Amino acid sequence: MSVQIFGDQVTEERGENARMSAFVGAIAVGDLVKSTLGPKGMDKLLQSASNQDFAMVTNDGATILKSIPFDNPAAKVLVNIAKVQDDEVGDGTTSVTVLSAELLREAEKLIDQKIHPQTIIEGYRLACSTSLAALAKVAVNNGNNPEIFKKDLLNISRTTLSSKILSQDKEHFSKLAVDAILRLKGSTNLNHIQIIKKVGGKLSDSFLDEGFILDKKFGINQPKKITNCKILIANTSMDTDKVKIFGAKFKVDSTSKLAELEKAEKLKMREKVDKIKKYGINCFINRQLIYDFPEQQFTDSKINSIEHADFDGIERLALVTGGEVVSTFDTPEHVKLGYCDSIEEVIIGEDVMTKFTGVAAGEACTIVLRGATEQVLDEAERSLHDALSVLSQTTRETSTVLGGGCSEMIMSKAVDQISANETGKKSLAIEAFARALRQLPTILADNAGFDSSDLVSKLRSAIYNGMTTSGLNLNNGTITDMRDLGIVESYKLKRSVVASASEAAEVLLRVDNIIRAKPRTADRNQGH
Ligand SMILES: *[C@@H]1O[C@H](CO)[C@@H](O)[C@H](O)[C@H]1NC(C)=O
Ligand SMILES: *[C@@H]1O[C@H](CO)[C@@H](O)[C@H](O)[C@H]1NC(C)=O
Ligand SMILES: *[C@@H]1O[C@H](CO)[C@@H](O)[C@H](O)[C@H]1NC(C)=O
Ligand SMILES: *[C@@H]1O[C@H](CO)[C@@H](O)[C@H](O)[C@H]1NC(C)=O
Repeated sequence: MSVQIFGDQVTEERGENARMSAFVGAIAVGDLVKSTLGPKGMDKLLQSASNQDFAMVTNDGATILKSIPFDNPAAKVLVNIAKVQDDEVGDGTTSVTVLSAELLREAEKLIDQKIHPQTIIEGYRLACSTSLAALAKVAVNNGNNPEIFKKDLLNISRTTLSSKILSQDKEHFSKLAVDAILRLKGSTNLNHIQIIKKVGGKLSDSFLDEGFILDKKFGINQPKKITNCKILIANTSMDTDKVKIFGAKFKVDSTSKLAELEKAEKLKMREKVDKIKKYGINCFINRQLIYDFPEQQFTDSKINSIEHADFDGIERLALVTGGEVVSTFDTPEHVKLGYCDSIEEVIIGEDVMTKFTGVAAGEACTIVLRGATEQVLDEAERSLHDALSVLSQTTRETSTVLGGGCSEMIMSKAVDQISANETGKKSLAIEAFARALRQLPTILADNAGFDSSDLVSKLRSAIYNGMTTSGLNLNNGTITDMRDLGIVESYKLKRSVVASASEAAEVLLRVDNIIRAKPRTADRNQGH
């Protein structure tokens, strides 16, 4: 008889059962996202159960997984792996999920053949390090040749975007993303790249502009363009003094008193404006309202003013113009002003905005996204963000590898070769790892509607026969040289996909016990 150590509300699954339910959960997650993989992958429409108006169309693995509440603990492990991939590399979330699931699908078959999980783990580890070594061997580093490296970046950008909503206009957006990244000059601070979304127009109307764009306009009657700008960025209330006066001894009991009050208030405002004028600026930008009277005074003093700038806008503005946000005006000598060559009003879509050109942080730029609906713009932003993340990582780790299933097949070849040297059950696990790797090109081909078993076996024989740059051409279902086609991916991304997927598979293979504690509310409902 077994001893009951848990309370009634705790359930436990052991051994085979626990492992199987872990596998089933993880494999289900893999199956869920695998149709989105690759340039011909499909999108998912996500709708919120609680808010019927909320709908999102995406093929971003991380976004899909984040949006679905999983009950299965194994599914959650995969969701976490995808999240780590997203944070560290910014893309490849679908690949890492699918590869983990395929490794577990293979492991399930091995366990059916009575192979111990520890043996599988040993085989997988050896296969994983062999894969990574093979990948490192074929990685190409053009980092010290800026001209070729830029082409690499463009090719990576195209490859990344080809699986996303921006694929129709991938030439346009690849260039845009690469230009933005090259402006950063090796920094990975994507905060310098501002993305503004404006409903209307076509995706291909999107553009990159150097400098910074603020979704605001100048005060009335102020010039539409100023040059050689010295900017004071403030977060100050222009009428706090009014509150003080009300709070003080004045009591409004007659119109003359009210006039007096207004006069006093204007005086206070003027004093503040005078203080601000002492900074020798020609542009004043406030996070809060400025009101008519101070604005008029700024206009008279040839200072352009912008009021009520949003929080995000003002933080970025300070960052890119090199200024700081101030709230008091008594120490002009200690304040860092912002600088730029010119500020002018521009029309984007139907709106007037203000463009800052020649900003102190020369690397700053703005990408204005245009598109028919908010959903399209949101997905475009996610896609562009993935591309920007991968590109910025690539400026750090400049090696590249080939896509289209080429790298996976090279790894699979290396793994198959070592399995020949292993005897017994471990070699079965190593072969299984190689099969899981080949599932990635298989899914790419399936998603593009080709006969995957035919195409992948052709790819396999090409690579195994030493044509190491072959890959799947998903436009016409042939085996083509991936370098000629420019299907290039970040080495770091690929390495991270393989390493993280094996790690996730190992974590789940070690599971021999799932303990579920039911939420407290459940026992009350059951009337314990
Ligand atoms: C601006 O100042 C107000 C108080 O006047 C403060 O509550 C707010 O957090 C400040 N915002 C920023 C962006 O500094
Ligand atoms: C397999 O073993 C043979 C003979 O011992 C050796 O020459 C070969 O390099 C080994 N292959 C791998 C991939 O380790
Ligand atoms: C497929 O496309 C490649 C590259 O674009 C081209 O070289 C090849 O001839 C095409 N093959 C067929 C069968 O159309
Ligand atoms: C980039 O792709 C083009 C084809 O679009 C190809 O000709 C070129 O060789 C690729 N560049 C690099 C550096 O791989």
